[in-house]
Amino acid sequence: MNIQHGAARYAEGADQPVRGDVITGERYVARDWMDMEFANLWPRVWHLGAVTAEFEDEGDTVRHNFGRESVIMVRQADGSVRAFYNTCPHRGNRLVLGDVASSPRITCSYHGWQFDASGTLVKVQDPDDFPGGSPCGKVHLTELRCETWGPFVFWCMDDDAAPLIEWLAPLPEKLAGYGLETWVRAMNLSCDAPFNWKIIRDNFNESYHLPTIHPELSTFINDGLDDTVFAMYDSGHNAMWMKGHQATTRRQFDNVPAPLDDIARAWGVDPEAYAGRPGDIREAIIHAKRTLGPARGFTNYDSMTDQQLVDYFHCTLFPNLTLTMSPEQCQILRTEPHPTDPGKCIFQHWCLYPPVAGMAEVESPVGPIPLEHDAVQRHSVYGDGVSLGFVADQDLSIGSTQQQGLASRGFKGSILSYQEKRIQRFHELLNDMVLGAPTP
Ligand code: FES
Ligand SMILES: [Fe+2]
Repeated sequence: MNIQHGAARYAEGADQPVRGDVITGERYVARDWMDMEFANLWPRVWHLGAVTAEFEDEGDTVRHNFGRESVIMVRQADGSVRAFYNTCPHRGNRLVLGDVASSPRITCSYHGWQFDASGTLVKVQDPDDFPGGSPCGKVHLTELRCETWGPFVFWCMDDDAAPLIEWLAPLPEKLAGYGLETWVRAMNLSCDAPFNWKIIRDNFNESYHLPTIHPELSTFINDGLDDTVFAMYDSGHNAMWMKGHQATTRRQFDNVPAPLDDIARAWGVDPEAYAGRPGDIREAIIHAKRTLGPARGFTNYDSMTDQQLVDYFHCTLFPNLTLTMSPEQCQILRTEPHPTDPGKCIFQHWCLYPPVAGMAEVESPVGPIPLEHDAVQRHSVYGDGVSLGFVADQDLSIGSTQQQGLASRGFKGSILSYQEKRIQRFHELLNDMVLGAPTP
């Protein structure tokens, strides 16, 4: 491995050149930057809006407030989901005022115009009092693109953006083995947070902070730098493979540490047998899961690779979506911009789990919860003491102090290690979209 250059940390064919643009504090604090993002970035990317389980019947609606926009996703008669701007074509009133709704008609609270699930105006007051006669059947909600991947529903304001499945590349292919389409969102948390949305993006684009911010992970996730593989894909998305079911190689362990010893026992592997070579237990657990998993109800193990059975695959999608896969948990972590304040954002944390016959409860980042759709759902304000999951709490705790430091005139721009190159690339892609690509 060429440690000096750092290139070998990237998977074959998944390194990318960077220019070295200076990442100054301005982009985290300036209103101008925020306005340019609203104009040039957010309308051009796909946004995760919902999970398919939220759309059982025709007319089932999920609202997604994003920055200054509001989008509604509505189940159609044929089972598909379509997305519309949440604004009444009559005189602009917001239509859906709750997070979810379920009605065959969307009714505006101002003058009572009614729209069916396909967004067509079907009823108005005084229909003959309009030039050209009744507007019913002629007026439609403004539609935007809406596509699904696995259990997820996405929307996009840009008619020219690539189709969702292409835009996500190569992740649908790399994640196919997990069988995500049947997974259940059991945890759905969000909060108002006191920092710019990009602070958490940067955090998720590096693992340099794991030994200092999440030290307790090191007994079952190997955050050793030489054991971690990073990737930067042509699509702009990044990823990281980190070995799981193995303690960190940053320190010496003589025995299999807790809680990995209990995890091993649960799979019929004796941790005592790995004294002096605790790292080898990862291979033994792969074998045990392969052998015992399907009979225990983990039917998706058959389609998973050995790596997927034990490791952590952490994907940071441009610009603001993180998807962290462990063998039995899919975490969605995301920050979205505040409508007006660049020093604030909305943080979201969803967890999805594979359905396993006979399993009524799962271990989530906020403790054991029922394995049911949105078993735990809440929105809080960061600082009120409500947990967003113990690891996420640790990341969020840095966000507010980093926001303060970035706002200082003494901050001259980030100094990045090789392993933080994904941060550099993220900001250069962002610069290209927000400020305009430099002319070659
Ligand atoms: S603004 Fe919606 S019916 Fe008038
Ligand atoms: Fe973290």
